[in-house]
Amino acid sequence: MTIAATDEAVHVRAPGKINLFLRVGALEDDGYHDLATAYQAVSLYEDVRAWPADEITVEFVGPVDTSGLPTGPTNLAVRAAKLLARTAGVPGGVHLQISKQVPIAGGMGGGSADAAATLVACDALWGTALPREELHRLAAQLGADVPFALAGGTAIGTGRGDRLSPALATGSFHWVLVPADHGLSTPAVYRELDVLREEWVAEGVDAFAPGAAPDGPPAVDAEVLQALRAGDPARLGASLQNDLQFAAVRLAPGLQDVLDLGESVGALAGMVSGSGPTLAFLAPDAESAIELQVGLSAARHMALHVHGPVPGARIVHG
Ligand code: C5P
Repeated sequence: MTIAATDEAVHVRAPGKINLFLRVGALEDDGYHDLATAYQAVSLYEDVRAWPADEITVEFVGPVDTSGLPTGPTNLAVRAAKLLARTAGVPGGVHLQISKQVPIAGGMGGGSADAAATLVACDALWGTALPREELHRLAAQLGADVPFALAGGTAIGTGRGDRLSPALATGSFHWVLVPADHGLSTPAVYRELDVLREEWVAEGVDAFAPGAAPDGPPAVDAEVLQALRAGDPARLGASLQNDLQFAAVRLAPGLQDVLDLGESVGALAGMVSGSGPTLAFLAPDAESAIELQVGLSAARHMALHVHGPVPGARIVHG
């Protein structure tokens, strides 16, 4: 839908994500690692409202402490708006208001969701009406996870994580998320994994050990795809895997205790989400997710019950 020349705000909602599976391959010349991942969009959202304006500006509102985030030209939403304006040749400005729910620097793609929502909002506000493939191309220029925040659902990502193919998932999976007090920097976590792997090689650790560098291009295990297709949480729980977890836990060792706790209070499995430090616990069903949430909260951890898959960046009407 196109809303050209309007004074009304365009409201777009984009989801945070979990990586159900993440194998990290070689560091490429462009500074990115080759990877194979299974993404799932979950019901924790970023809400972006866009108003016509002379310049491109951004402000944050909402429950999450955003005081450490940039609002200048390095802000990913500002960069998204500028990239769209330049590509479509529109002189437009925009005022963006971002209401954050996704933890900052938490490994759930909150900044990527802001960028994806901004592309969709500005496309509608300025009437640029770019085809979805073109928005996807712009999204990939902004960050590895931005195309998935546009697409949503459940998908396999390869390359940097930006080459997407949809994955069939039946039903809804219930997750309990535990955000951390402090963020982890994504590049630092990838770097730490490279360091760890060098140490493992020097120590003679088995090349097939969990977390070890794959022998060739990384791939998503068939078992993950089958569990998603079958809508079977127990099976999915048994096949969750994230190479970056080893690096995230080494940088933030306290995460391991919380992972153990979650599994002892009813999670089928727990894992670091993306580069962390947010933890994602898979529950057998909605009711058990509430029990799990109670068990984690009793130990004074913030615990959020979400479900997935949910759609990607979409205009919200009304
Ligand atoms: O694209 P994005 O800004 O999310 O990536 C942040 C950083 O994470 C990259 O600059 C890179 O250091 C690291 N990264 C990587 N391999 C990927 C994705 C991200 O090494 N596939």
